[in-house]
Amino acid sequence: MTVSVCSAEDLPALVASAAALFAEDGGRHDPFMDTSWPDREGPGYYAGLIADPDCLCLLARDGGGHLVGKLSRPDPLRPGVVRAVLESIRVAPERRREGVGGALVDAFLAWARERGANEVSVTAFAGNEPALAFYDSHGFRPFLVTLTRA
Ligand SMILES: CC(C)(COP(=O)(O)OP(=O)(O)OC[C@H]1O[C@@H](n2cnc3c(N)ncnc32)[C@H](O)[C@@H]1OP(=O)(O)O)[C@@H](O)C(=O)NCCC(=O)NCCS
Repeated sequence: MTVSVCSAEDLPALVASAAALFAEDGGRHDPFMDTSWPDREGPGYYAGLIADPDCLCLLARDGGGHLVGKLSRPDPLRPGVVRAVLESIRVAPERRREGVGGALVDAFLAWARERGANEVSVTAFAGNEPALAFYDSHGFRPFLVTLTRA
């Protein structure tokens, strides 16, 4: 399995993997999620990320999955923090538990370190237990908790 940075010609594969993530994750855990967003807005949104030097778009080749990461803007309330955000990650169902997700996260962490990040964060649905276990195995620990009610 090869992990590499997306170029413009990888856009359809990136959008397809992001759409599959929306359907599987947002569609399952958030009744308000618009799972048609990637098909509608994804090409423009992800083309912008591929071209942005403060963003990282990775593909695990041969349909294996993707990762999107971003450097956050400085937060004046938290001076001294350089934060990289893992925005989305997905591994194709038939390739899970083979270390593909780990390879994507390792590449993201190396990218973040090279850019001086001293904090790395990710947001996950509380009901997505496999993802929480995956992040825990990579050293991510709860920091902020979002509580909701109708
Ligand atoms: C979360 C996800 C990216 C993990 O990818 P992966 O390639 O299967 O992960 P890895 O093989 O690198 O797993 C590394 C470790 O994470 C943990 N882990 C991964 N999947 C797990 C699961 N389903 N249950 C429990 N622990 C899990 C394990 O400790 C695992 O090590 P092990 O296989 O030696 O036990 C993948 O399951 C996925 O795409 N899920 C659907 C999309 C999703 O939920 N994305 C995250 C949105 S926040």
